[in-house]
Amino acid sequence: MGYYIGIDLGTSAVKILMMDEKGEIINSVSKEYPIYFPNEGWSEQNPEDWWKAVKNGLKELITGVQKSEIKGISFGGQMHGLVILDDNDAVIRPAILWNDGRSAKQCEYLNNEIGRHIISEYTANIAFAGFTAPKILWVKENEPNNFKKINKIMLPKDYIAYKLTGVHSTDFSDASGMLLLDVKNKCWSEEMLNICGINESIMPTLFESYEVTGVLKPEIAAELDLNADIKVIAGAGDNAAAAIGTGTIGGGKCNISLGTSGTVFISRDKFSVDVNNAIHSFAHADGKYHLMGCVLSAASCNKWWLEDILGTKDYEGSQADIKNLGENKVFFLPYLMGERSPHNDPNARGIFMGMSMDTKQSDMTQAVLEGVAFAVRDCFEVAKSLGTDISVSSICGGGAKSPLWCTIMANVLNIEIVTLEKEEGPALGSAILAAVGCGEFSDVYDAADKIVRKKTVYTPNLDIAEKYEKKYKKFTQIYPNVKNLYV
Ligand code: XUL
Repeated sequence: MGYYIGIDLGTSAVKILMMDEKGEIINSVSKEYPIYFPNEGWSEQNPEDWWKAVKNGLKELITGVQKSEIKGISFGGQMHGLVILDDNDAVIRPAILWNDGRSAKQCEYLNNEIGRHIISEYTANIAFAGFTAPKILWVKENEPNNFKKINKIMLPKDYIAYKLTGVHSTDFSDASGMLLLDVKNKCWSEEMLNICGINESIMPTLFESYEVTGVLKPEIAAELDLNADIKVIAGAGDNAAAAIGTGTIGGGKCNISLGTSGTVFISRDKFSVDVNNAIHSFAHADGKYHLMGCVLSAASCNKWWLEDILGTKDYEGSQADIKNLGENKVFFLPYLMGERSPHNDPNARGIFMGMSMDTKQSDMTQAVLEGVAFAVRDCFEVAKSLGTDISVSSICGGGAKSPLWCTIMANVLNIEIVTLEKEEGPALGSAILAAVGCGEFSDVYDAADKIVRKKTVYTPNLDIAEKYEKKYKKFTQIYPNVKNLYV
């Protein structure tokens, strides 16, 4: 017997689950924390809030469990966030998150003054406002006193690992999103570190996602009432962890995540780069690589529309009147936090278009769901243009709980969309990484084979898909026509 804990450090909450050696989920908890938007387009969280939520969540998770059976812990985490610690290991300033758009000027410098081809040669990617390196440059320029104090740089999930083990580590999938990693050769890029004015000594040690990085610090083990020999495994960025939890491993598989962000994740056996760098080229948690497009606001658009604008939490009820798929006249552009893939425009913002006197609230709700699906299709089109042939994709994240949204996704992308029996993508993926790291499975392929099972297959309907095809063509014309109005 053995239990493995997966910690998914998300943007709205941490989700923690415990899995047994057969891959059955024994228990799970979720703890929320605040997100701050101190300026338009800025997005921050306090690492101490994450740590408190993780500790409280872990204590609740293990209540009543035979402690000696817990063998390993691993992580999936919101990517790209900049966490900086001083000489005393104190957090210097709030973490600047993946959907923060403040570093437009620094991206401009990296992509246009140094040059996107050079940056892409060093890292396999170009600068996007949410990536970590432009944010380091922002701190250097705007908060020089904070910059001088930096003694350790880390990503969100790695802060939790550091608090648990005292080991300053990260994994290749998450490190890929820093724009400081030479993704192809899996090492820090000396050139990029120089450009940012930082030394490799303040960077975390790199591991494969399924490798053991350390064990619990004795005082933390005592505080959490856990055995001190529990192994801590590197884990992955949340999208790579979700890919493990949905069996998106090896060459040519696809997973779509509809969480706070929306992502299209394509696993690759070999390293490859999008010539236009519109979608990212990152390392995967299976030891190989992946391509990924990221829509900054996905399920968060629906949450914003329902909770903040309409003042309701009735997600199911809000979708009850939506029937005529493909026939809605209203369009929605989901760029509430700017857009990453493929536009790379931190200044972009949301738009409703096409309303008339007979437009109903449900038409606008439908437009929100469809707008996100079209934005995901934008990423999907880039992936297709690179020669990836995808006829089926798994789906995970909060948005995947809506059968209507899954149906819309299947028809907008014109592919089969598959939900899974165990829906906990990144948390399950990280528990699997913990189990692989502890030797419970021979590798992630063996684990996914035994654990991941299909639930529902959504097949596109010819007529609806055709209507959406026409609507998508119109959607793609809106952004180029309004982008100059944003600034
Ligand atoms: C991926 C990205 C988001 C976050 C969300 O590049 O920025 O998906 O990882 O947690």
